[in-house]
Amino acid sequence: MYRTHTCGELRAENKGQKVTLAGWVQKARKLGGMTFIDLRDRYGITQLVVEADAPAKLVETATSLGREFVIQATGEVLERQSKNEKLPTGDIEIKVSEIKVLNKAAIPPFTIEDNSDGGDDLRMKYRYLDLRRGPLKESLTLRHRLAHEVRNYLDAKGFMEIETPYLIKSTPEGARDFVVPSRMNPGEFYALPQSPQTFKQLLMVAGYDRYFQIVRCFRDEDLRADRQPEFTQIDCEMSFVEQEDVLGTFEGMMRSLFKNVLGVDIPNPLPRMSWFDAMDKYGSDKPDIRFGMTIHEITDAVKGKGFSVLDDAAYVGAIAVPGAAEYTRKQLDELTEWVKRPQVGAKGLIYIKLSADGSIKSSIDKFYSPEEIKAIADKVEARPGDLIFVMSGPAKRKVQTMLGVLRIEMGNRLGLRNPKEFAPLWIVDFPLLEWDDETQRFYAMHHPFTAPKPEHEKWFYSNAKEDLERVCANAYDFVLNGTELGGGSIRIHNADMQKRMFEVLGISPEDAEYKFGFIINAFKFGAPPHGGLAFGFDRVCALFGGSDSIRDYIAFPKNNQGRDVMIDSPSRIDQEQLDELQIDLKSAPEA
Ligand code: AMO
Repeated sequence: MYRTHTCGELRAENKGQKVTLAGWVQKARKLGGMTFIDLRDRYGITQLVVEADAPAKLVETATSLGREFVIQATGEVLERQSKNEKLPTGDIEIKVSEIKVLNKAAIPPFTIEDNSDGGDDLRMKYRYLDLRRGPLKESLTLRHRLAHEVRNYLDAKGFMEIETPYLIKSTPEGARDFVVPSRMNPGEFYALPQSPQTFKQLLMVAGYDRYFQIVRCFRDEDLRADRQPEFTQIDCEMSFVEQEDVLGTFEGMMRSLFKNVLGVDIPNPLPRMSWFDAMDKYGSDKPDIRFGMTIHEITDAVKGKGFSVLDDAAYVGAIAVPGAAEYTRKQLDELTEWVKRPQVGAKGLIYIKLSADGSIKSSIDKFYSPEEIKAIADKVEARPGDLIFVMSGPAKRKVQTMLGVLRIEMGNRLGLRNPKEFAPLWIVDFPLLEWDDETQRFYAMHHPFTAPKPEHEKWFYSNAKEDLERVCANAYDFVLNGTELGGGSIRIHNADMQKRMFEVLGISPEDAEYKFGFIINAFKFGAPPHGGLAFGFDRVCALFGGSDSIRDYIAFPKNNQGRDVMIDSPSRIDQEQLDELQIDLKSAPEA
């Protein structure tokens, strides 16, 4: 037997017991004649002591131990003289009578402690060493707990976990596909699923009326803190349901995760906000409602005073930043540069300072009287001490989005976004379609299987652009603290309506048949009304853990270039493999 206990298990009650532990040497140090060894495993750290009068061979082994050696140690549990309150095992230590080195270790490239000295790249390269550290162990443990709770909840509600294939055909989620060449079908490619969307709908046609899957999805898109090229969804679908049934079921799932994993009660029922309100007030379809600073339209209040920037704008909006009136010129200049970056895209930033003493200072004093500025401040519901930011432009949603980005930045700067505070809500009533000026066509806001609201069907079948723009969907997103955690919709279950959808999206009947013929066909064989959603599981884990970066919640993630630097992938394949796949590279990259 390698061990009687783990390194996180022993307490004062175990005093006097003879135990054997196995694990990694976190560190070994000599003090007086004694050697102290911190022995670590997945469960914790236990202090071992080799006393000065121990047999010489034992002392010699103890002093020769390097960091990360794998050892087995046997000894007696003693109560410690000086207790370590930071460690759960800090009341005891093991007086060692025998040490066996199970394996030596090379000197690790960084210290494997909670606060490591290793940089990001180095830790990614040696991810298996990084995973030995406490913080990562905690995130993977949290991930495991959450997956377990999800399965418990959905199983109790009658959902069946069914696997769907990974080698499929392009899916409709709107990102680029990762493709896999087929040796047996030269010149043809599988696509890896961006989601199991079409398969879960086919499962509804097949009669499996409550499906879920904790499933890997693949999207070839630009990466950010909350995006990985392969990520995991809690993917769900239900038949014979309306929007209310879906929201109720999954609100319940999130409530049970919050309660059982974090001990947090979230509101019952959860707040709901229409997509239109979210855009108007927060400039985002994933609003962080933990703080105010909402957007107010002030277009009418600023027009006609001779200031062309605002006179010519189709929309002028503003936010009042609480208690920021004392911002200095330098801070304002820096913020102006910040909003001008391409990521925000503003031309500039107008400010109005309402000092606590009642004085007003603004960058538009020349054009507006103090009364007019006061009227603007009233519209924005600003108070003395606040700093107002104004933005304008030809397109309302674009200005609102820029104000939304600024709002989040100010929320961060003012410390209003406490990761331990949770404010979930549903965003509902999304527009079905989104017009793109550049390509002059409609795109599905969610995906092309989302159904129009029944009361909007008349516009869905109209050919007028304004009518189509008005169509809303029974689509919904679950939003938490400014992050979209999940989203879904009630689906189209009628072959003719699905065909109409492809027509509206400018997908030719031949193309629709080629890409999605299988699902249009399936709808002819008794498709039940159905709907569902998918949560981004990595995002759920990160937010529950108080982080906005999903990387720490994935055992082996990719870096921002989409590379796994540990296994050095993607990598080239040899000519023989290329030949077998009948693939000619246009230009072979340099070795
Ligand atoms: P959607 O595309 O909104 O919907 O994806 C659902 C959720 O998956 C998460 N997500 C990601 N997480 C990490 N990295 C990524 N690259 C990434 N992309 C998406 C988000 C998102 O809310 N089939 C539909 C769902 C449905 O209609 O049922 C779908 O995939 O948290």
